[in-house]
Amino acid sequence: MNILPHFSLKKHNTFGIDAFAKKFIAVHTVAELEIVLNQNQNTELFILGGGSNMLLTQDIDALVIHVDLKGKKIIKENDDFVWVESQAGENWHEFVLWTINQDFGGLENMSLIPGNVGTTPVQNIGAYGAEIKDTFAYCEAMNIENQEIKTFTKDECNFGYRESIFKHEVKNQFVITSVVFKLTKKNHKINISYGDISGELAKKNITNPTLVDVSNAVITIRKSKLPDPKELGNSGSFFKNPIVLKSDFEKIHQRFPEMKFYEISDTEVKVPAGWLIEQAGFKGKRFGDAGVHKNQALVLVNYGNATGKEILNVAHEIQDTVFKLFGIRIEAEVNII
Ligand code: EPU
Repeated sequence: MNILPHFSLKKHNTFGIDAFAKKFIAVHTVAELEIVLNQNQNTELFILGGGSNMLLTQDIDALVIHVDLKGKKIIKENDDFVWVESQAGENWHEFVLWTINQDFGGLENMSLIPGNVGTTPVQNIGAYGAEIKDTFAYCEAMNIENQEIKTFTKDECNFGYRESIFKHEVKNQFVITSVVFKLTKKNHKINISYGDISGELAKKNITNPTLVDVSNAVITIRKSKLPDPKELGNSGSFFKNPIVLKSDFEKIHQRFPEMKFYEISDTEVKVPAGWLIEQAGFKGKRFGDAGVHKNQALVLVNYGNATGKEILNVAHEIQDTVFKLFGIRIEAEVNII
């Protein structure tokens, strides 16, 4: 275990921003994590997972601890369900494929989401009608201050749309070390109602889809809309879909009857930010090396050497224009550092 000085984080964030950590260390076991936390009690720390949900607008003046804990296993099963545990540093998509290959159901709709397993509970990742909270059983996390391991149950995590306790009450207090999911062994709940999944399956004449079929359909759709971070730096959806009070929405909807929306409760509707941004004219626009993806306006991209500040400027311009046009504030989903 070596602490490396002035370390480039370009390969550690999917936006590909060339910012530097004052000091950097990768930990590969829970024991190593405990030692590093214990020995650096009075040091400013920054915990880094897969770097898939952050925009680095400056160097990090701290000791960056890269959580690289590996391993996945079945920890319990009965006739109907299996509990699988993944260490925090496992790549999410490889973990999803590992579960699907064993015919365990529940994660297939979330195929190909970038990032590592350990950060999935933080923002309750989700796609194509599924969210982590639907299959999450519990996670273990190390208390940064005293290095004790605490188990967080699903209820304790307080999951919401891209929200959890890890973004609020216990922010910066814990390092998630492993996550356990409860998956189905039979009677899988195949969910193809969202968006284009059923259309994609129909193209292949699949009427009774398996977990693999659903996963493949999601992979095809994601590849057609979302840029691969290995080819074009990005952090997935840059913004959250805004939730608007129905009473406010009705006034806006009268002015823009073609506006898309989903009812989420008796009093609230969710509006697709991608639609708002596209209407505001930003889809596919490029400002130097920073830009808005041509197939999905929610995704900001780095064409090569954009700085985090340049990408943030584009984000601010989008937010201001959307607010002027629609009176709706859209908030970043990624963490701005
Ligand atoms: N839309 C546009 N223009 C665009 C993008 C979208 O008009 O450029 C419209 C679409 O036509 C559609 C609606 O917006 O009617 C929703 O689009 P889509 O199904 O592509 O999903 P999204 O709401 O834009 C969310 C997640 C994605 C996830 C997809 C699919 C958020 C912030 N984003 O996007 O998550 O993959 O649904 O489930 O909730 C991520 O978080 O990084 C991410 C990619």
